[in-house]
Amino acid sequence: MRTLHNIVLIFSFIVVTKSDQKCRERDLGIEGRSIVCVCNSEYCDTITRDPPAASSYVAYTTTRAGKRFEKSNGRIQAFSRLQKELNVQINEENENEGPFWTRTTLVLNQNNRYQTIHGFGGSVTDAAAYNWNKLSERTKHNFISSYFAEDGLEYNLIRTPIGGADFSTHPYTYNEYPRNDAALTNFTFTYEDLFLKIPMIKYIQRVSKQEVKVMASTWSPPVWMKTNEHITGFSQLKPEFYQSFADYHVKFMELYEKAEIDIWALTTTNEPINGIIPFVTFNSLGWFPAEMGQWVGKNLGPTIRNSRFNKTLIFAVDDQRYLLHFYLLGMENANSDSIKYIDGIAVHYYGNFAPATIFDDLQTRYNKILLATEACEGPMPWHIMRVKLGSWERAHRYTKNIIEDLNHHVTGWIDWNLCLDERGGPNWADNFVDAPIMVFPERDEFIKQPMFYAMGHFSKFIPRGSQRISVTYPFLEFGRIDNVAFRTPQGNIVLVLHNSNTFEMDVRINVDAIRHIQIKAEAESIITLEINTSLF
Ligand SMILES: *[C@@H]1O[C@H](CO)[C@@H](O)[C@H](O)[C@H]1NC(C)=O
Ligand SMILES: *[C@@H]1O[C@H](CO)[C@@H](O)[C@H](O)[C@H]1NC(C)=O
Ligand SMILES: *[C@@H]1O[C@H](CO)[C@@H](O)[C@H](O)[C@H]1NC(C)=O
Repeated sequence: MRTLHNIVLIFSFIVVTKSDQKCRERDLGIEGRSIVCVCNSEYCDTITRDPPAASSYVAYTTTRAGKRFEKSNGRIQAFSRLQKELNVQINEENENEGPFWTRTTLVLNQNNRYQTIHGFGGSVTDAAAYNWNKLSERTKHNFISSYFAEDGLEYNLIRTPIGGADFSTHPYTYNEYPRNDAALTNFTFTYEDLFLKIPMIKYIQRVSKQEVKVMASTWSPPVWMKTNEHITGFSQLKPEFYQSFADYHVKFMELYEKAEIDIWALTTTNEPINGIIPFVTFNSLGWFPAEMGQWVGKNLGPTIRNSRFNKTLIFAVDDQRYLLHFYLLGMENANSDSIKYIDGIAVHYYGNFAPATIFDDLQTRYNKILLATEACEGPMPWHIMRVKLGSWERAHRYTKNIIEDLNHHVTGWIDWNLCLDERGGPNWADNFVDAPIMVFPERDEFIKQPMFYAMGHFSKFIPRGSQRISVTYPFLEFGRIDNVAFRTPQGNIVLVLHNSNTFEMDVRINVDAIRHIQIKAEAESIITLEINTSLF
């Protein structure tokens, strides 16, 4: 039977596999850590997507043990029930062996469709651009390709701060002087725009084969617009500058238009709670929900819609899960137009102890685009290790959260800093955190952490325009594996699996009523399968 099996495998599919550059592994020699992949001017690992042939799939596997996008492929198996009846067990030998919790069956329901995906990406902060800029030309190229090229993660979204954030070498805003300049007569490029962020964004747009959409958020306006006249701390916008702050966003878009960068979307201010409950020491502007409703309904909304940038999307809240209802209800009560003006709701990662079912309620109530706009690991005061090189747990948490968000109407996921230095900075407010890529300029080298590959398991294989489909367990199935599935615009199915168990699982994927795929999901692994369900 084994021989027959092999012969069937050899003859049944011919997939042209392009050769990829493998991860150049570095074992950090620290107990419990996974490997990192090292890139420099001469070498960097790549990953190409192999289109699956009819009735077959291509799988990509990343494991704690050290696999990085390892490719395998196979055929969809048909008529197994018939074969069983005839006592022919081709391709079935591994099925249903282990105890019940190590096996599971997933049923793909192609006709149950949900949200359409906008994309995946990372943030061009001053810190990211500053670190990247210290590399040699070839290493810089390998860096951008790793994230944005066809042989990289194919990111297609960017978020960038309007002016400075904590991930800058110093706090700054546009139009700091003259003070009380309501007409914003001195809104000009900063050093960071001209020499860091814009060059990085332009480079990304040159390397990417698809449109990379840019989202922008203000952390703090010029301090003269704020009640406390400081970059951080408890503050609100002074009422006399409500219109100026709306105009501030148009001025920013005009500035970036000069650099031929279109702003696809704005958020209504980064983490507005930070200026209300000031437990952070970095750039912020506080908003109470009612005031935000007034500002969006009377100033920001009309200003954007009546400007040349009338197509720019407006995403509200841009803060943690547990604050979404608080802000949206408060905005709606204060000014119902504010809800009409917003196209989407932006959410951050740091309050994910709150349940993702919040999104289901929001979807029902508002029917706006839900987008995850910021995430990083190690940001909390109690995180002893801001940077934890090679951490698998951090990749695990990214994967778990992305799958959870996507299963609750979220249409895309933007990571925070594209890269940081070995401390997790620079950050003028000492708010160091981790990032998927860490840069070592003195060695002209960067390393890709497990989080990088976790992001890639989604960004590379779920193209913009993909639609989520439902995945269910059959009645009386007890084994569980984190999963999310999509139908791509080309018509393939992409299924992302996350086996967070410390044991291997046998996973049967029912593609339709008569066809299935049988795979083994290694312990602590992330697997993306692209499935071509057509018969010919
Ligand atoms: C599925 O495979 C067939 C045969 O190789 C190919 O013609 C078709 O384009 C594939 N479908 C998709 C959606 O890639
Ligand atoms: C305009 O801003 C620059 C800094 O960007 C500052 O040096 C200059 O003094 C400002 N001009 C006025 C008239 O305040
Ligand atoms: C949006 O702005 C463009 C110019 O950028 C203009 O041609 C168009 O008429 C505007 N649309 C609306 C609905 O105002």
